[in-house]
Amino acid sequence: MTRLVELEETGPRKLDPSDLDDEKGDIAVCQCGLSESFPFCDGSHRRTRDEDDGTTYVYEDGERRAVERVVTADDDA
Ligand code: FES
Repeated sequence: MTRLVELEETGPRKLDPSDLDDEKGDIAVCQCGLSESFPFCDGSHRRTRDEDDGTTYVYEDGERRAVERVVTADDDA
């Protein structure tokens, strides 16, 4: 599967000891791109569990949809 994620951050987030989860004792960094608390995982990755290999998904306005292809402003097609 492929997932398109739109991010607005323009710089890094430096992690420090205060970012540790008090209960779990770890720092979970989001790798799916869907977290509302980015760069930290907030459990939103659960929405990806039934994604199919070979399918591209767009998550937008709380909804997920599969798309045939993605066209960008740089495409000549
Ligand atoms: S890995 Fe992205 S929300 Fe958990």
